[in-house]
Amino acid sequence: MPVIDIHNHFFPRTWPDLSARYGTPDWPWIKHTETGKAEIMVGDRFFRQIYSACWDPEVRLQEMDRDGVEMQIMSATPVLFAYDRSAEHALDCARLFNDAALELCAQGKGRLKSLCQVPLQDIDASCKELSRCMRAGHLGVQIGNHVGDKNLDDPGIVTFLHHCADEGAAVLVHPWDMLGQPRMPKYMMPWTVGMPAETQLGIVAMILGGTFDKLPRKLRLCFAHGGGSFAFLLGRLENAWKHHPVAHGLCELPPSQYLNRFSVDSAVFDPRALQFLVETMGAERVMLGSDYPFPLGEHGIGSLIRSSQLPEKTKTRLLGANAMEFLGLKSELKAPAAEPIPSVSTAPIVPKNEQLTYSSYLKVAELLGLQHPQSTPHHHDELLFIIVHQTYELWFKELLHDLDGVVASLQAVAADPSSHDDVYEAARLLRRCTEITRVLVEQFTILETMLPTHFLAFRGKLEPASGFQSEQFRELEFLCGLKDEKMLRYHRPTPEAHAQLERRLREPSVHDVFFQALQALGKLQVSIDATERERFQARARAVLSLYQDEHSHRDWIDVCERLTEFDELVVSWRLRHIQLVERVIGARVGTGGSTGSSYLKLTLDKKFFPELWEARTLLAE
Ligand code: HEM
Repeated sequence: MPVIDIHNHFFPRTWPDLSARYGTPDWPWIKHTETGKAEIMVGDRFFRQIYSACWDPEVRLQEMDRDGVEMQIMSATPVLFAYDRSAEHALDCARLFNDAALELCAQGKGRLKSLCQVPLQDIDASCKELSRCMRAGHLGVQIGNHVGDKNLDDPGIVTFLHHCADEGAAVLVHPWDMLGQPRMPKYMMPWTVGMPAETQLGIVAMILGGTFDKLPRKLRLCFAHGGGSFAFLLGRLENAWKHHPVAHGLCELPPSQYLNRFSVDSAVFDPRALQFLVETMGAERVMLGSDYPFPLGEHGIGSLIRSSQLPEKTKTRLLGANAMEFLGLKSELKAPAAEPIPSVSTAPIVPKNEQLTYSSYLKVAELLGLQHPQSTPHHHDELLFIIVHQTYELWFKELLHDLDGVVASLQAVAADPSSHDDVYEAARLLRRCTEITRVLVEQFTILETMLPTHFLAFRGKLEPASGFQSEQFRELEFLCGLKDEKMLRYHRPTPEAHAQLERRLREPSVHDVFFQALQALGKLQVSIDATERERFQARARAVLSLYQDEHSHRDWIDVCERLTEFDELVVSWRLRHIQLVERVIGARVGTGGSTGSSYLKLTLDKKFFPELWEARTLLAE
């Protein structure tokens, strides 16, 4: 189970003297006091004691291992926001720390990721810096909950949040610059009292300011420290909203109806508070956040969630599954096979007290907003072209999901060869895969209602996009065992897809686990020094031995038949695709640069499970 901590901080080991760089006093600086220890100073004022986990990836990774954390999403510290400085200096400062974050991530063995910071007093500069950072590898941005007197409903900040949604950037809102400080000079009260109030203010300002009615639903927003005092006082807010028109603000719905628009982290330090938070926000809206490695952070990251009375399924969500969805990390970390986590786009996200409807469950509005024809003037058949491709991709997603299930079942058999249930489960899922693929073969006929002339009218708009870039199709090939590394080159422009395919290359395929299971069953023996050909023959003979003893191996023969049928249907898919291609573009070259149908014909010989076919040749009459 991936454990992902979405709220923790870093400081680089050193950075330039900012006061000298900008010619203004009181910028934060780091004073190393002894090995592995340092103090953050703001001008002459002591701000915070820190230790090497802040800047040393090795120490951080060791502590993550100790606490069973797979990934951390690091942010800078609000003391560096500089929203009250000149925008030019704040931007320069943001760039320094954003680049430093990526340097740390680069040494993090893929387990450290980061959120950038932006000069939020300048919206244009913030949007530009966010775009730069997203291209450079940040997963999103950490912002403060206000900029001077401007709360999060400020039109400029709303514009920035729009931009975050467009860029697919996750947003973590962190309280800072706490209110009422003259009355809280002692006892860390700005942290223990001011911060929760600031966070509550941030959320309430967004709700009552009507920002959630304006912002797209795809915006991924999380508030630190469990959302501060918000959840506990939601009833008070709701009461005011219902009974006092003046408390209505600009929002269209009662405040409690907006809980499905943001998440909170789990940094509340009390099991009862966590339980209440999950009940209020919903299990899909709370994520592990530790505030590590600061003094007020969670010692033993994730221990609050792990030791809580929450159901195991909920703990899985809080510890990592929700973060995977929130951060769009589906492709980098594998969710547990036993508890598949629906992706953001399919999760039924409704507030606890809002009734689920057909449309909200299926995300119909979002789905119907995903077709964007490119032709001008608009060409009637382009919509069909888009919808047919999108439908294929949806079914590819289901196929990957089911084939992952097949891998998990066969792995279970390899671990315990007496487990008949897992063999049946593999066969059951494979049957679904063959039925889906049958539909996919048929579906080309719909596209063939498009005349070649009509396609050529908008084909020019598609270049250089090509089926070669269908990540899921290639994933399917890799997952079934056809791992051609060369095909990765078509995914260089999309690093996420590239990383996902690299992962598939490394992971066991259906082919691998099928034969591992036969080996565990005692059907397959291969000597270490066998040649590739001899190994292939041994695998084919293992299949043969199943068919030869039908009475004892009905369940396995069913798996073999389903795999063979799937192989057969994928070849049918390739053939129908070629026929479609020839019908629509003749012998033209492809938009992906191949020779078109003559190239595609070469793929017809590809088989996922050639041993299953070879076994048929070996069968005696
Ligand atoms: C007008 C309809 C279509 C035409 C003209 C067409 C054309 C082509 C061509 C020429 C190629 C070779 C690569 C290249 O140079 O671009 C290709 C590959 C591919 N196409 Fe299509 N295609 C069409 C519809 C579809 C549909 C509906 C799908 C469904 C997902 C699809 C999926 C693919 C895939 C996955 C590949 C890569 C195949 C491989 O590498 O083995 N195509 N297509």
